[in-house]
Amino acid sequence: MNAPDHPGILNVKAEPQACGVAAPHEAAHLHVSGRALYVDDVPEPRGTLFVAPVLSKVAHGRLKSLDASAALAVPGVRRVVTATDLPAANVVGAGHDEPILPADLIEYLGQPVALVVATGAKAARVAARAVRMEVEPLPAILTIAEALAAESWVLPPVHLAEGDVEAAMAAAPHRLQGEFAMGGQEQFYLEGQVALAMPGEDGTMKVLSSTQHPGEVQHWVADALGVPAHSVQVECRRMGGGFGGKETQAGHIAVWAAVAARIAGAPCKMRLDRDDDFLITGKRHPFLGRWTVGFDGQGRILAIDLMQAAACGFSADLSGPIADRAIFHADNAYYLPAAAIHSYRCKTHTQSHTAFRGFGGPQGVGMIEAALDDIARHLGLDPLAVRRINLYGDAPRDRTPYGMQVTDNILPALIERLEADCGYAGRREAIARWNAASPVIKRGLALTPVKFGISFTATMFNQAGALVNVYTDGSVTVNHGGTEMGQGLHTKVCQVVADTLGVPLAWVRITATDTGRVPNASATAASSGTDLNGRAAEFAAREVRDRLRAHVAGTRGLDVAQVSIRGGKVLVPGAELDFVAVAKAAYAARVSLWSDGYYATPKIHYDHQTMRGLPFYYFAYGAAATEVAVDTLTGETRVLRVDILHDVGRSINPAIDLGQIEGGFVQAVGWLTSEELVWKPDGTLATHAPSTYKIPTSGDVPADFHVALWPEPNREDNVYGSKAVGEPPFMLGFAAFFAIREAVAAARREQGRTPLVPLSAPATPEAVLRAVEQ
Ligand code: MTE
Ligand code: MOS
Repeated sequence: MNAPDHPGILNVKAEPQACGVAAPHEAAHLHVSGRALYVDDVPEPRGTLFVAPVLSKVAHGRLKSLDASAALAVPGVRRVVTATDLPAANVVGAGHDEPILPADLIEYLGQPVALVVATGAKAARVAARAVRMEVEPLPAILTIAEALAAESWVLPPVHLAEGDVEAAMAAAPHRLQGEFAMGGQEQFYLEGQVALAMPGEDGTMKVLSSTQHPGEVQHWVADALGVPAHSVQVECRRMGGGFGGKETQAGHIAVWAAVAARIAGAPCKMRLDRDDDFLITGKRHPFLGRWTVGFDGQGRILAIDLMQAAACGFSADLSGPIADRAIFHADNAYYLPAAAIHSYRCKTHTQSHTAFRGFGGPQGVGMIEAALDDIARHLGLDPLAVRRINLYGDAPRDRTPYGMQVTDNILPALIERLEADCGYAGRREAIARWNAASPVIKRGLALTPVKFGISFTATMFNQAGALVNVYTDGSVTVNHGGTEMGQGLHTKVCQVVADTLGVPLAWVRITATDTGRVPNASATAASSGTDLNGRAAEFAAREVRDRLRAHVAGTRGLDVAQVSIRGGKVLVPGAELDFVAVAKAAYAARVSLWSDGYYATPKIHYDHQTMRGLPFYYFAYGAAATEVAVDTLTGETRVLRVDILHDVGRSINPAIDLGQIEGGFVQAVGWLTSEELVWKPDGTLATHAPSTYKIPTSGDVPADFHVALWPEPNREDNVYGSKAVGEPPFMLGFAAFFAIREAVAAARREQGRTPLVPLSAPATPEAVLRAVEQ
């Protein structure tokens, strides 16, 4: 479907509508045949050099001296670049608080301290190991507990209070204290971090970067080279996965490649080896939650006092907005009449933790779900009953702690349907019978919801631009500021453009994201890629379409409203014109066949001082019911069955949306059960390769996996009536985690222990065993 059918032949069989169709991914035929070009596949220009990082071996210390002589003696090595060689300011990072290469202070184990530039990638890597450093060690802070005790922050703490928490807590019939920790998570994009920097004429630099945010890479590279942004062009055709890990982190690799290219005067490629990628780049933030919650006899929350602490690593990066999003999702789907939330952004001497699908949302959700789970077990109630009674409802139970009214809540109805469809009540009884008869293998079932706020919480990022070009043969290119990382954004944008212009999908080709085409684009993140860029492309296509309609109306003496375009035909009363002929005629009459489009999300506003406003345009909802089996002798767990009902509004592409839901769920189950990041006491990340860090594989995808889409368009005016889908389903993975807790609770009850389950995430076999026996 990529090669346009010859547009001159208009009798091609084409879908009349592209949106709503399960069209294949725009590059699927290239992905499956190995012909899709990723940065490392692009032929290197002659004379390209290769860059390898020299990594720090201490977590915190002062760099006393650096001896590169052995490295320079390795055949093929051209240069060793250190902080003193940099062409401009030695500062980079989303918080402008990171050195490109440290001149003095080393702040994590694995931090690149110098760069080796060589004629081959292997020579560069071998030589990097030969660089000697003398470092005076300083005490390192590695854990959240140490950071809290030392008040070590990357950004000041944030406190949000809504209602009279003290009074409501004092008056509550029941109170519980609880704690829930969540580990970090490596993004594990299949294509590692990579950039190719190519010096051009007159001080310019072109960079091919595997990045979710070409615009930011452009600015970082320009600053690092000391040139204006117009001298740097950044291009990304696609990524082999990003998952948030290429939102800011890709910029560092591009900057290192670009400064090496400037200094060496030759194209430079930097592609991180997987182990180095693990050591250098940031991951999902590990979080610790602690709370006191007051509630009534039915488990209805009356007040909560909640501490959220995030391990941010050595710099701010995106930790501010990520910790903010954890606050915004501290309620998940539940009304908190009185809430005090204390958010700590802990500075630790590790990689600088960064975006990962959900962006702090999952950590916020995990805490409130754990609290509700504890409440249910404390009262001896079905956790689903407690979840349900706490859902947002009619006023006044419709106000979030940040003052936004929840007006589009579909969860009560959605949960009711999922509960019926998955046979929740009957299966819960069957599981109780199974558990009574099965001494070792225990089963558990949990149903958990998600309500996820859609929009960047920094209001200014909610804008996008696009360009639509129609050529005189009828073929179309679309370009926008968003990036493709496998999530299908480009496919959806092509579908929107095809329908808006009224041409078959096969006529529309998407071109690489390029800072020279659409400037100042936001990161493709916060799940808003299609909402923002799809709308901008729709507006651009609408502009061209309406010019064509006006042209036809003018030449035929018709009203514009009498002209429509559909399926590659221009329809006028009594006749069907050839789109290509119309495009050619319009061109000849000097009608512009291309346009830009610009979109800014309406309604949203947020005041960071008062922490009140409408940070989200709308919410995406969903729920999952998951049944697991737990071996109480080994701690192993298995997901037996999953039922998901998820809200994507009116789906632009059901195949892509189902893929996002399934993938998000499985990725979260990996985070919550098998993926464990372990730092040794000296700050070494011990789990820095697939041999020690276990992500889910196809064998871990549950065989009994049912996903259905909620059949209702977005109630807000959004592109095609759709809703964002990239991140929200990630949080459905909690259903598996809390099902494990159910199974462990059954084992504990049998052994006469309290049914409160002391199990944090990840629920590795060791952790599950401890939770059974503790
Ligand atoms: N799906 C795939 N296949 N690969 C990815 O890297 N990233 C996720 C999600 N789904 C990702 C993915 C993340 S973190 C986000 S924010 C969204 O896709 C970004 O794309 P979107 O805004 O177009 O949904
Ligand atoms: Mo996604 S974590 O917003 O890149």
